[in-house]
Amino acid sequence: MALMGKTALVTGATGFLGGALTRRLAGEGVRVRALARQPHKAARLQGIQGVEIVMGDITDAAQMRAAAAGCHVVFHGAAALRGPLEAQRRVNVEGTRQVIRAAAAAAAERVVHVSTIAVYGYAAQGEVNEDLPLTPGRVPYNISKAEGEAAAREEAARHGLAYSIIRPAMIYGPGSGMWTASLFRLAQRRPVIFIGAGSGCAYPIYVDDVVDLMVRLASHPAAVGEAFNCAPDPAPTWREFLLAYARLAGHERWLGLPPLPLKLAAPLVEWALTLRGEPQDVPALVDFLQGRRRYSMAKARERLGWTPRVTLAEGVSRCAPWLREKGLLR
Ligand SMILES: NC(=O)c1ccc[n+]([C@@H]2O[C@H](COP(=O)([O-])OP(=O)(O)OC[C@H]3O[C@@H](n4cnc5c(N)ncnc54)[C@H](OP(=O)(O)O)[C@@H]3O)[C@@H](O)[C@H]2O)c1
Repeated sequence: MALMGKTALVTGATGFLGGALTRRLAGEGVRVRALARQPHKAARLQGIQGVEIVMGDITDAAQMRAAAAGCHVVFHGAAALRGPLEAQRRVNVEGTRQVIRAAAAAAAERVVHVSTIAVYGYAAQGEVNEDLPLTPGRVPYNISKAEGEAAAREEAARHGLAYSIIRPAMIYGPGSGMWTASLFRLAQRRPVIFIGAGSGCAYPIYVDDVVDLMVRLASHPAAVGEAFNCAPDPAPTWREFLLAYARLAGHERWLGLPPLPLKLAAPLVEWALTLRGEPQDVPALVDFLQGRRRYSMAKARERLGWTPRVTLAEGVSRCAPWLREKGLLR
């Protein structure tokens, strides 16, 4: 492995993706500096050989400079995934600037910035490749992640720093609150209740595949200055994804709700979410769930020789021990 013996800073190391990356890197002989900001979450990383925990907040310039000092590579996965726009901007845009500046001050060889397919927004249709302009729409997460990418590019260019961007789809696997625990809860109900026949596409990508592409981006010469999708291509349908979890729970029953009443109720749901400080574009989301996009993996395949390896059936079955441990699967 090209990174063996090097030192890598991982921001977001206490999170789902950053934790998986930290364990993979440490297991392959990389010295990992794992950024944490809450002692009780840092405790999860204690005792992993090759991992040094550093406390810090990505919005704090001095803390980030200290964290990055001496690092050859910086993996920037820390992000705010929910909340009002200004709070997300503070972390996903301003925090990203501090991480890139700190990497530049440390003369790092490469920064891998974690973005998301959400930067293409709900409006993207058909084949979605990395050359498309970003149209994040009006969802705070999508907007702040798109602005975060732009900030990463701008700061890296200003400092002459080599960077790569990964745009993962719906990352699932052991430790995923959203795409594994929550969806499993939905899928274990008999029947699974979803929109229509569930024939719209879902975009689940197994966490180990995302980590694998991040590692590739950290050293491949053709990755410099480029963004790469990391998504299942072709994508399964929602029915296929949810029923894979349902089968773990021992059933395959499905109840499709007619889309029209959901669409009519969407503005009300959006209003309630906005009151809770979690603004969403619910009407566009309802359409998105029924749409069939293709987040193309041609670029990673052609330029890096990389393609996802974990099939949906394999990935879901790898979630079972963790779901049992959490008491969700009996
Ligand atoms: N999960 C997905 O399906 C998905 C899909 C596409 C892209 N992504 C991207 O992947 C990355 C990781 O996501 P995830 O699912 O692993 O999220 P997660 O589990 O919520 O982890 C987020 C991490 O960011 C840290 N963090 C947040 N604000 C911070 C700050 N101000 N300073 C330092 N650390 C901070 C969190 O620290 P605490 O533990 O202290 O909160 C946590 O370690 C994000 O960039 C996200 O946008 C995720």
